[in-house]
Amino acid sequence: MTYRIAVLPGDGIGPEVVAEGVKVLQAVAAPADLKYEFVYYDLGGERYRRTGETLPDSVVGELKQFAAIYLGAIGHPEVKPGILEKGILLRLRFELDQYINLRPVVLYPGVETPLKNKGPEDINFVVVRENTEGLYAGAGGFLRYNTPDEVAIQESINTRRGVDRCLKFAFELARKRNHKKKLTLVAKTNVLTYASDLWFRAFEAMAPQYPEVTTDYAHVDATCMWMVKNPEWFDVLVTDNMFGDIITDLGAIVQGGLGLAAGGNLNPEGVSMFEPIGGSAPKYTGTQKANPLAAIAAAQMLLEHLGETKAAAAVEEGIKAVCAKHLKSMAAGRMGYTTSQVGDLVAQYAVAAFESKP
Ligand code: IPM
Ligand code: MN
Repeated sequence: MTYRIAVLPGDGIGPEVVAEGVKVLQAVAAPADLKYEFVYYDLGGERYRRTGETLPDSVVGELKQFAAIYLGAIGHPEVKPGILEKGILLRLRFELDQYINLRPVVLYPGVETPLKNKGPEDINFVVVRENTEGLYAGAGGFLRYNTPDEVAIQESINTRRGVDRCLKFAFELARKRNHKKKLTLVAKTNVLTYASDLWFRAFEAMAPQYPEVTTDYAHVDATCMWMVKNPEWFDVLVTDNMFGDIITDLGAIVQGGLGLAAGGNLNPEGVSMFEPIGGSAPKYTGTQKANPLAAIAAAQMLLEHLGETKAAAAVEEGIKAVCAKHLKSMAAGRMGYTTSQVGDLVAQYAVAAFESKP
């Protein structure tokens, strides 16, 4: 099987960490009996500064032809905030209709969490973040711009169709994960009496179709508290775009930091894109200090998505082994290894895992 994969290394540490993900993908190719054709695109801040282009229409068209997209990081210190994020990352999510942002929060043995008295048995949940609507839809505008009477409006768009397809994915995931089989809706029904109301009604309406899934509801502010106090209560959480953005940064630190957190922008009927969720970390560019495990975990999710479950499991074994046996810290510059050495180690353990479970 040959998979065509678009690689968008992007800005800052993106190219360095993506190189390690590609290395690990290549390492498991032979034992898993698969092949890739990687096609690189130089989207990001450098290209924008050189040519003024963020994401040419022709590239969007080409990206729709791949089996998957592997993204490093988007964000450049010399480019005004919003241009690259909206012009590249969000535009891809929207145009490829990647309506799910899937963010696992798993604490691996050997990784330090800032949560007192919590361990790997307590921290194992997944956030399903709606990825094409809400406050991110870009609805709104200014009135009387830049005057003392200025009005800025940013509207949250919540369509029943958009909410339903996200909830359906979350219910199915809760069933398939076969963990606690619990789905928690995260919203703010006590204040957002339109948007959260729609989510709540859609959730209640869908629940009877999944009798084996226990449902639960939590306000987003309380969710932040429970994620710190009792993370073991969660299995699958489903929420809108903005709340999902916020709680997954909390999730990332709970699982040991941005050096470990990966996510998938999924279009279950189309082309999906996998990325480490941390940013471009410009100050570490080219220093070989960045932790590539998040990018490697994104590559693992990519394999999973392609249906290459054995290869994905081997990569996860590799990540776990490196966490348990090697890294002194997950923080950039404090791992005790270079970015590339961490990639080499994961690759070795992943291949070994494959050989021990052929
Ligand atoms: C993320 C990021 C993006 C988001 C930014 C870079 C636009 O924070 O993937 O969580 O807000 O979705
Ligand atoms: Mn974010």
